[in-house]
Amino acid sequence: MTASISSIVRKKLTGAKVGIPARHINFNINESAPRYFYGDNATATLFFAMLSAFFPPGERFFMESVRNFRDQVDDETLKAEISGFMGQEAIHGREHDRLNELLAERGFDMKAPEKFVKMGLSILEKLPASTQLAATTYMEHFTALLGEQLLNDSEFQAKADPEMIKIWQWHALEELEHKNVAYDVYETIGNSQMERFLAMVASNAVLLPMLTVTWGWMVAKEGKLGSLSDNLKGLNMLFGRRGFVTQILPKMPLFNFKRFHPKAHDTTELENVWREKLFGDQGVLLDEFKNKEAIQNASAI
Ligand SMILES: [Fe+2]
Ligand SMILES: [Fe+2]
Repeated sequence: MTASISSIVRKKLTGAKVGIPARHINFNINESAPRYFYGDNATATLFFAMLSAFFPPGERFFMESVRNFRDQVDDETLKAEISGFMGQEAIHGREHDRLNELLAERGFDMKAPEKFVKMGLSILEKLPASTQLAATTYMEHFTALLGEQLLNDSEFQAKADPEMIKIWQWHALEELEHKNVAYDVYETIGNSQMERFLAMVASNAVLLPMLTVTWGWMVAKEGKLGSLSDNLKGLNMLFGRRGFVTQILPKMPLFNFKRFHPKAHDTTELENVWREKLFGDQGVLLDEFKNKEAIQNASAI
């Protein structure tokens, strides 16, 4: 009897119930947002435009690498977390596709980064499935750090266009909510520190040169390569002493620590603050949040 009751309870576990809700967000991206939406600077704005182009193919790779091992997961909580992870990443990809279309209409070359990242991922797809999952855990470590930086960095908040930044804030929060999922799936299939190290090297070797070349290409297409004041200001905003990326990079090697786990670095408080800012009673994304009621009902079950 006890067993049958607990199995009924287990069946009700969903992504929303375990803190990873697939929020159906539909952005009305304001077409009047400034062309250079970060710090009125082309170089830095194009860095974020490039990341936005990377996300949809990258997130499909993450989902696929987790899906390959989904059947090997018996733990009911982790199964529900996987559902939440899949739902969140799918919607991130869809909304970034929409943002990328808008940026392309404005004349940014969004095809180049998409093409390059697809090429890079097709190389990673030749690796064994477990190594692809290990690579996903590394890239999810990056997206979690990126998300934390986005939500913590008051200078970034002040310099970014308030409308354009909302999609990044929502994405950042959800990257933190699901940051453990790929890693916990990898743990269920064995977690080899050596394989994780090799996956990190392969990911960096394939993606970093592409990132650099693509960014330079986009800046050149915008007619801003060699525009010294724009280039220097943008590089300083990203890689200066207190630059946005500078504050992420020192935390990347944590991935190699033997005791690494995404949740060892606790971001619960930050997530709570931003969940309230975005989706609380006065949340700035309530109009865009199409299934709030369904998620609240599912969380209450
Ligand atoms: Fe994502
Ligand atoms: Fe993610």
